[in-house]
Amino acid sequence: MKKSNILVTGGLGFIGSHTVVELIEDGYIPVIVDNLNNSELSVLTGIEKITKIKPIFYNLNILNTNILEEIIIQHQIDCVIHFAAHKAVGESVENPLEYYYNNVSGLISLLKAMEKCNVKKIIFSSSCTVYGQASQLPVTENNPILKAESPYGNTKKICEEILTDVAKTGKLKVVSLRYFNPAGAHKSAFIGELPKGIPNNLIPFITQTAAGIRHSLTIFGDDYNTLDGTCIRDYIHVTDLAKAHVKSINFINSNESEIEVFNIGTGKGSTVLEIVKAFEKENSIKLNYKIGNRRSGDIEKIWADCKKANTLLNWKAQLTIENIVKDAWKWQNQLI
Ligand code: UFG
Repeated sequence: MKKSNILVTGGLGFIGSHTVVELIEDGYIPVIVDNLNNSELSVLTGIEKITKIKPIFYNLNILNTNILEEIIIQHQIDCVIHFAAHKAVGESVENPLEYYYNNVSGLISLLKAMEKCNVKKIIFSSSCTVYGQASQLPVTENNPILKAESPYGNTKKICEEILTDVAKTGKLKVVSLRYFNPAGAHKSAFIGELPKGIPNNLIPFITQTAAGIRHSLTIFGDDYNTLDGTCIRDYIHVTDLAKAHVKSINFINSNESEIEVFNIGTGKGSTVLEIVKAFEKENSIKLNYKIGNRRSGDIEKIWADCKKANTLLNWKAQLTIENIVKDAWKWQNQLI
């Protein structure tokens, strides 16, 4: 049976492109809208190499509501997966207006187009950043939402609030996925993360250091209250994360609730040093690293309770830290 057409905003980005692959492999027809702000056209070729299908693609900013409407109607879109957003925490502190305009107005534009075209289902990319430093670990979806640490984090919180309000009107069904730390790359190494400039995130910084692009990794602090003193995060393989979106479509199609929020992580926390050691062991490489000062705004530890997603989405992370560091390194190697 032919499955429905899914609009994927930001579908050439890191998580978007992996989700497009999983959608195609599950029989859906993705329609990508991406303005190439933080992605490249070559990603389409990577998706095609994996799936043997070249997905439909529009180079468009989602702030262009009228053209979005035309695309939605032309392709009889049934459900939207919304990734298109800026995501760099530091940049959002430097340029908050750009973040609020792009991320919040972008969502509003998309929702207006959906309403006009009678599309009633959206899956939204949220973040564990909404929990801040949770006092209870692992965090469940019921943990309190704290004041955001950055304009970026605040856009995620505001977007969830907007979606909640619109869902209450009965005109929209929402699944909001709160990602923990997405990492790794497709096992084929045809798609992966393409950080612009110096990476902020740990895993791309590690792979670039191992490749000799960066001289050494600085571990931001080893005096935290953790086993080895370095921060703890819940690193989730991007392919597992992508699969959670496909499961969310099944859920939204078969469930009446207006809005449901899910933590998407592995349920297991790893320290920065554990990640470094796993990278060295799995890839038989010695990594050049040093211990530096704490990074301002970093939380000490967080990992997810994913029971809700395990039960209601029928989804569970399958891949491990070992898969993450191996796939990320394989991807880095074909980039050089
Ligand atoms: N780290 C280093 N050295 C680096 C980079 C990172 O030691 O060069 C450490 C960080 O201090 C942190 C861990 O590695 O302990 C992970 O850092 P990332 O920057 O990879 O990820 P964060 O947990 O800081 O950021 C993630 C998402 C953001 C989100 C944020 C909210 O990537 O989008 O969580 O907590 F906003």
